[in-house]
Amino acid sequence: MELEKMIKAAELARENAYTPYSKFPVGSALLTTNGKVYHGCNIENASYGVTNCAERTAMFNAISSGERDFQMLTVIADTDEPVSPCGACRQVIAELCPKDMVVVLANLSGKTKIVTVEELLPFAFSSEDLHE
Ligand code: THU
Repeated sequence: MELEKMIKAAELARENAYTPYSKFPVGSALLTTNGKVYHGCNIENASYGVTNCAERTAMFNAISSGERDFQMLTVIADTDEPVSPCGACRQVIAELCPKDMVVVLANLSGKTKIVTVEELLPFAFSSEDLHE
């Protein structure tokens, strides 16, 4: 049930996507351990490289609201298969979310794929690699 609600939340967030260039709206929703939901959509720019993906928008939205503990991330787009997060987002997910956290990939036809953070980015570079 929670899962369906989170997919719906990502679908609603997708409606706010700002995608004049790709016309490829993506939505995301991030659930905190306390049950709060933060939304994200992709936000593009005429300088294409500074585009922010939906997943990072959701995470930055939550972090900037003071949240630190997460239990589920969902992402949805109009793809044939459940949408797959880009490499940059995987790195940010690995930084901010627990390794065993569930990430739900979805598409508009109702197909889903459930993976963990570690499956999305095995052997990730992390704070543990930084010798201070
Ligand atoms: N995009 C996302 O927001 N998330 C993904 O998982 C894949 C790609 C966005 C970036 C860009 O605005 C558009 O999709 C096309 O790449």
